[in-house]
Amino acid sequence: MAAQKVVLVTGGMGGLGETISTKMADAGYKVVVTYSPGNTKHAEWVADMKKRGYDIMAVPCDVADYDSCTKAVAEVQAKAGAVDVLVNNAGITRDTTFKKMDKVNWDAVIRTNLDSLFNMTKQVADGMVERGWGRILNISSVNGSKGAFGQTNYSAAKAGVHGFTKALALEVAKKGVTVNTISPGYIGTKMVTAIPKEVLDTKILPQIPVGRLGKPEEVAGLVIYLASEEAAFLTGANIAINGGQHMQ
Ligand code: CAA
Ligand code: NAP
Repeated sequence: MAAQKVVLVTGGMGGLGETISTKMADAGYKVVVTYSPGNTKHAEWVADMKKRGYDIMAVPCDVADYDSCTKAVAEVQAKAGAVDVLVNNAGITRDTTFKKMDKVNWDAVIRTNLDSLFNMTKQVADGMVERGWGRILNISSVNGSKGAFGQTNYSAAKAGVHGFTKALALEVAKKGVTVNTISPGYIGTKMVTAIPKEVLDTKILPQIPVGRLGKPEEVAGLVIYLASEEAAFLTGANIAINGGQHMQ
């Protein structure tokens, strides 16, 4: 029997991350998640998962900080083994019009959503290449390709994600390692429920052809496929999962 593969999901306690983690565990992976060092509910989350039948390891990690990522991945490798699948999922929004955007909100979003790809992927890519197998999945956003009102910082970072994917995919293509971007549209997590209701109802929902928010399970299903053996020929892609918004 093949050894159980290890998946590391950054921001694995968040709205999308939690569902990706439980679905990956259901699919037979050994799952490790990261949480922000400031997250005071991490032990509660792990205990709650245990009650639901999931044995998920959790490590603190600020994905915006290179040294924190080095330390976190070293702990994962020591306790769970080499990382076979990395899901760069952690991300934040700091929405405000460009007129009001300050450097703090610009930097926070770029560091957390874009610098994090370097910080985390650097820890695992060489090992994947040496072992001849790996999957790197980078969570971008529909707003990385179409832009969004109030999101110059986020749209820039999320557009950068796919540039990173394409360049790295080329470098590791012959080594059994695939690198892909997933670009979700509006999914019903707290990132979206934080949008003012009036804006969501009048500006966003009417632009989604399917007529509703997406579900985390729908994104998790795509993650599972992209991590699978069957997806070995799929690399450097940016897969839109957005209820049809890409058609506009
Ligand atoms: N499209 C067009 N116009 C918009 C708009 C939008 N998406 N959002 C706001 N506006 C307009 C408002 O209607 C308003 O117009 P009027 O002055 O004519 O009334 C004007 O912009 C100012 O709006 P606010 O009163 O809300 O201004 P504010 O300064 O308090 O807030 C804002 C501005 C921070 C951008 C706020 O409107 C907001 O949070 N908008 C939502 C931003 C958004 O969509 N974020 C996505 C989060 S989810 C996510 O990012 C996940 C993902 O990847 C898909
Ligand atoms: P969420 O519920 O707010 O979760 C975000 C996660 O990121 C949290 O688990 C958080 O960890 C983690 N995180 C934030 N800053 C971090 C940092 N500096 N270091 C480590 N972890 C950090 O949001 P979500 O909807 O699940 O979003 C997940 C990803 O999908 C993000 O990249 C987001 O941009 C992207 N996305 C979301 C949507 C959507 O509609 N929801 C659409 C497109 C793309 P803690 O909880 O421990 O702080």
